Amino acid sequence: MPTLFDPVRLGATEMSNRILMSPMTRARSTADHVPTDMMVEYYAQRAGAGLILSEATGISAEGLGWPYAPGIWNQAQIEAWKPITAAVREQGGKIFCQLWHMGRVVHPSLPGRGQPVSSSATTSPEDVYTYNGKQPAVEARSLARAEIQRIVDDYRAAALNAAAADFDGVQVHAANGYLIDQFLRDSVNLRDDEYGGSISNRVRFLREVVAAVLDAVGAQRTAVRLSPNEARKGVNDSNPTALFEAASIEMSALGIAFIEIREPGFSGTNGQAERPPIGPAMRRAFDGKFVLNSDFDALKAQAALDAGLADAISFGRPFISNPDLPARMARKLALAPDDMATWYLGGAKGYTDYPTAT
Ligand SMILES: Cc1cc2nc3c(=O)[nH]c(=O)nc-3n(C[C@H](O)[C@H](O)[C@H](O)COP(=O)(O)O)c2cc1C
Repeated sequence: MPTLFDPVRLGATEMSNRILMSPMTRARSTADHVPTDMMVEYYAQRAGAGLILSEATGISAEGLGWPYAPGIWNQAQIEAWKPITAAVREQGGKIFCQLWHMGRVVHPSLPGRGQPVSSSATTSPEDVYTYNGKQPAVEARSLARAEIQRIVDDYRAAALNAAAADFDGVQVHAANGYLIDQFLRDSVNLRDDEYGGSISNRVRFLREVVAAVLDAVGAQRTAVRLSPNEARKGVNDSNPTALFEAASIEMSALGIAFIEIREPGFSGTNGQAERPPIGPAMRRAFDGKFVLNSDFDALKAQAALDAGLADAISFGRPFISNPDLPARMARKLALAPDDMATWYLGGAKGYTDYPTAT
């Protein structure tokens, strides 16, 4: 059985270990969603990961509702990502860009945004981010079919921009209740056209987005993130096992490099998930590499590899406060705790000031 510290190849990407940094929004870009110098240092510090998945990155202003999160739809953003990908490469690391459209949780008070869009005319039950704190969400309007094609093209353009910024690949963010999830799940997708109703129809938008993205950058440089086993932002499904098994089969047919899933509470072979895990069924349905996330430590991660449940494990919060996480895990050192108060605070505190182990 491989260890966490053995190399693995995810599509075209050779990883020096089986530890990924999971995508994490940190809100350190400009108000115009242009990456900053501070981000160069932050990502370079974490280049010991076998692969970094960037923070969620807007494919368009319409799809980005998080203050100070980065985008990748214009030239200024592409140019500002270049020193980040170069610095990660310089340190021997690899980095994918996570492509993001937030759908109904974008607030119209953000500059240049209109009424948010979604699969159907629904309203997020959770408050959403604005530059003046969190505010109640506004009802989304249902996307017309021509607009869906335009958004698919936005994903394609963003993937090309990510390649221009020298990312090693892209990850389509289809998790956590954002736009693609709003198409996938039947609590929010109320459409009666070919994008709604049956599972195959609800998976259609994901399939079209991924097909466009891999047309741009190649299947071996394309990944997808899904969160099968939880309801986020009021987006839920009546039969998630069947839905995500079908989605995995479709992704397999497209030949993408890997699926990463966020399955909370899952604890490898040593414990029970709150709900039965869907990951094993997805792994069986998917031919490519499979990455598990959420609530892992080194022991649980190794147990999941030993049990054949995944090819690699991604870690989120531990990477915030332990920039040299793989080295610390290899040396079995205690991990530093992160500070939730600084997750989205802006500035260096809680961002680039966590030391490496001595
Ligand atoms: C500060 C923070 C920001 C996050 N932002 C994103 C994001 O941009 N995209 C995403 O897919 N998940 C995001 N997540 C979820 C993480 O990638 C990960 O799934 C979660 O933290 C669970 O993994 P962990 O237990 O290893 O931390 C975020 C989590 C945190 C703590």
